[in-house]
Amino acid sequence: MTIAAVLTAAGSGSRLGLQLPKAVVPVAGEPLVVHAARALLAARASDGSAVSQLVVTAPAAHLDEVAVLLADVVEAADVRLDVVGGGRTRQESVAAGLAELVDEVDVVLVHDAARPFAPVELVARVVDAVRAGHPAVVPGLPVVDTVKRVGPGDGTGRPVLETVPRSDLVAVQTPQGFDREVLERAHAVGSGRGAHEETAASDDAGLVEADGVPVWVVPGDERAAKVTTARDLLVAQALTAGALA
Ligand code: CTP
Ligand code: MG
Repeated sequence: MTIAAVLTAAGSGSRLGLQLPKAVVPVAGEPLVVHAARALLAARASDGSAVSQLVVTAPAAHLDEVAVLLADVVEAADVRLDVVGGGRTRQESVAAGLAELVDEVDVVLVHDAARPFAPVELVARVVDAVRAGHPAVVPGLPVVDTVKRVGPGDGTGRPVLETVPRSDLVAVQTPQGFDREVLERAHAVGSGRGAHEETAASDDAGLVEADGVPVWVVPGDERAAKVTTARDLLVAQALTAGALA
């Protein structure tokens, strides 16, 4: 098993609202992309295997900066690093990352720099499930809120169409793990929808599902929470400072 990780870090972080791309925003003294990369590279599957190639998607203006930020982490792990420009959407960025994979890779993890504190156990759990024969694996957590499907609104609110049984739902995280050929085919088949945020897949498993391949859910981890808003960043800062631990 030769494992690569595609780490998406090319977004602008518009909902975070800072002047710099989200992936280079520091928490506990280090950028989110460095935290995320460190966990990916430190993880060991049950058979001892580890990530041997790291492909990072970065904003075009930050390619060199991201490579410098990651230099120590990849050197310590003796891993090949490729930093590539991102696309217009996350889906396009992952596709750009897949194009960089070396021939030997047969398992691909796709992870978001926006989930900087995904623990090594979670990474290992995903890899182990792929290794056990699942072609596509996602971490999922139970949904805690009651979820309702709604119809078109009138500007003041929206009508409820139904309450979706919560026991059937999971909120999906990254890293997601794939058989390389399955992921590459799903991206090739789904590439037409990748250009626009409204049509692009928000995760890779969605593309694989659309290609008719079964997707398997393993237990997620609260620590893999996504940093999207300024509030999420404050929570991440507090947790890393030990304030809420
Ligand atoms: N991403 C990417 N290429 C894009 C868009 C997003 O590589 N064209 C990455 C982000 O860097 C992030 C992950 O995909 O690690 C998840 O995206 P999201 O949380 O939406 O991050 P941003 O797109 O940066 O944030 P926003 O949507 O608020 O602008
Ligand atoms: Mg985004």
